[in-house]
Amino acid sequence: MTGIPTTGYHAWPMAAIDPKDVLKTLGIKAENDGAWAGEWLATRGPVIESRNPATGEVLATVRGATRADYDEVLRRSVKAFEEWREWPAPQRGALVRDLADAFRKSKDALGALVTMETGKILPEGKGEIQEAIDIADFAVGLSRQLYGLTMHSERKNHRMYEQWHPLGVVGVITAFNFPIAVWAWNAMLATVCGDASLWKPSPKTPLTAIATQHVVNRVLAAHKAPPFLTLLVGDNAAVGQPMLEDRRIPLVSATGSVGMGRTVAEVVGRRLGRTLLELGGNNAVIVMDDADLDLAVRAVLFGACGTAGQRCTSIRRLLLHEKIAAPFTERLKTAYGQVKIGNPLESGVLMGPLVDEPSAERMMSALATIKTQGGEVILGGKRLTDGFPKGSSFVEPTLVRSKKDMPILQEEVFAPVLHLVTVGSLDEAIAVQNGVPQGLSSSIFTSSLRSSERFLSASGSDCGLANVNIGTSGAEIGGAFGGEKDTGGGRESGSDAWKAYMRRQTCTLNFGGDLPLAQGITFGS
Ligand code: UN1
Repeated sequence: MTGIPTTGYHAWPMAAIDPKDVLKTLGIKAENDGAWAGEWLATRGPVIESRNPATGEVLATVRGATRADYDEVLRRSVKAFEEWREWPAPQRGALVRDLADAFRKSKDALGALVTMETGKILPEGKGEIQEAIDIADFAVGLSRQLYGLTMHSERKNHRMYEQWHPLGVVGVITAFNFPIAVWAWNAMLATVCGDASLWKPSPKTPLTAIATQHVVNRVLAAHKAPPFLTLLVGDNAAVGQPMLEDRRIPLVSATGSVGMGRTVAEVVGRRLGRTLLELGGNNAVIVMDDADLDLAVRAVLFGACGTAGQRCTSIRRLLLHEKIAAPFTERLKTAYGQVKIGNPLESGVLMGPLVDEPSAERMMSALATIKTQGGEVILGGKRLTDGFPKGSSFVEPTLVRSKKDMPILQEEVFAPVLHLVTVGSLDEAIAVQNGVPQGLSSSIFTSSLRSSERFLSASGSDCGLANVNIGTSGAEIGGAFGGEKDTGGGRESGSDAWKAYMRRQTCTLNFGGDLPLAQGITFGS
């Protein structure tokens, strides 16, 4: 029994948007070079095909960078940084304001491109551009702040304070699932902080990166700014690994799997560079017996099926209080039955394909493992091929009845698979929720102040994000975003995350005629 309606594949003319128009609007050709540093460089690395996972079609190709291209882009980035750090921060902010406006003007086209390249539905594609606009707006305000503290000195006629200086070239490694927003979180902050940034996008989404760089370039040219925002599309050997090893990159910010993050931390750590890691999640929602179940069903539907379960914040585990587990499961099945699957450019469709066929195959093999461990698929569970184009990667959103000690519950499966686990108490729910290696996002649905405060207390959720009566995904940019444990500990986006992109300097200034020493030490006469 699946009960999930598929709209199937509809030929492109049925959607209001023609991919060819979108690519033309954004300046994308059939064949593109993958490196920009003041100009598009004629890259000579392997050709990367950007595929639309909803149709299997090749959208365009990008020639990736070689190691030599990497060296050239980095050389130019370092030079650009040396100029850019001299611009007053509010002037840097003025440029970011124009970036925000440029993103606003390109929102529809960029959003459609995100949809075509990742398979996420159009409202989510556009939402992603909005997230880039929001962080740019935030960064503009920040450009008039970047505050340091002042401290009282123990010595007479001395003054102490701290100030924040630009750091250097920041390496930004992004994943396919948020091909522009996560770059923007990093790049907009780095920009107002006076850094250069070198972007290595996922090889699955090179066109979004190229289109974004086109938008950026027009703003850089209008401001006569040096090329401090650079792009390098390429594989790990040519681009990724050199970035990790290069001492000219004081900070590497990376989003992706836990395995990838471990490598980044090890290699960058060996040279005592800094990392900012945003790795896998294994996010749980607790639904208590006093929860507003209408809210909870809607939130779980978006959190588990949105972006076809391919957000690091997607809901993976649903911990249901035993008193509501059966009725809640029935309501969720009904809601899942209304999720339309199909062409993500069409309105009304709620779930597009997974990003590629290997992802769909990985989901199928995870489901096989789930079954061997005693899990029971209660809805969905199949790849969708009949009526869908060859080479597309559609799957059914899937509900699994699972036991809390199944080993696979420790893993992040990057697909719309939701484990339903019954729990007897809030304490048990919190223990199950925290009992995984990852620590990104978490939620509780309850109308009890005691339960929500217990969940938010020091012995409650151990995640970087803890929500009450909303789902685990869809965070606003104003808060610091990131997680604990295997999620990597980094914080990006809002609050004081900007501090990661600057170096702190403690200054002590003597304006007197004596030389008193700290700690009351007397030394000589
Ligand atoms: C990610 O999946 O890597 O909170 C980022 C969210 C989005 C960002 C997700 N604002 O779901």
